[in-house]
Amino acid sequence: MLIDTHCHLDEYSEEELKLVLEHMKDHIMIVSGVNDRTNHFVVDLCNRYDHIYGVIGIHPEEVDYVSEDHFIYMESMLNHPKIVGIGEIGLDYHYTKDNIESQKEIFIKQIELAQKYHKTVVVHSRDAIQDTYDIIKKYDNLQFVLHAYSGSVEMAKQLIQLGVKIGIGGVVTFKNASKLKEVVETLPMSHFILETDSPYLTPEPYRGKKNEPYYVRFVAEKIAEIKKMSVEQVMYETSKNAIQTFSLPIDVEYLKERKM
Ligand code: NI
Repeated sequence: MLIDTHCHLDEYSEEELKLVLEHMKDHIMIVSGVNDRTNHFVVDLCNRYDHIYGVIGIHPEEVDYVSEDHFIYMESMLNHPKIVGIGEIGLDYHYTKDNIESQKEIFIKQIELAQKYHKTVVVHSRDAIQDTYDIIKKYDNLQFVLHAYSGSVEMAKQLIQLGVKIGIGGVVTFKNASKLKEVVETLPMSHFILETDSPYLTPEPYRGKKNEPYYVRFVAEKIAEIKKMSVEQVMYETSKNAIQTFSLPIDVEYLKERKM
């Protein structure tokens, strides 16, 4: 069984979504929100489909549009049994550094919500890894995931010492992704979970087309190649990690019996 631990399903047409869900019928998706609208959409999907879990949050690119109401709604959603984390939240200095202080403030505010509701935190970090690390480090009782990791081996080693899980996505299949391949090669399997970030970051051989959660299998295949393991073993280990990271109500032993 595959677990795509990070995808966005709000950018598909109705027909596309039907296919996306059908392709994943024997697998699990953790769908991510980024703002108030998509957080509501995530909860709606969780209610409608057995194989969907969700995380909700305010993305750093959304901090200028956030209102107090959005946090009140978020808090009410956190009691939902299928909302397994807060995300994606974090810091993004790529497009602007003008609102760094409000990005940090909203990131921390949501980490504290995760603490209150015992949720896993799914972190987005772009051009901001050191500040992200400095904040994460202060919360050693919380489970963090660094989604779509793109940093160095050294930083990955520091993160896993804090117990952070590393989300590996389609980028690992790209020819020029030597840094990420080195991360996969160097670190033990127990720190990795799989993701697609659909509809973005489509892996080879479909790079350039619209991504979908089922393509997480190409990520698993690439990791198997790098680690010189079977794809089945990669799927088993990463699914087991995902179940533990998000406390999903799935029996780990059951994974062995499931056809991949
Ligand atoms: Ni994302």
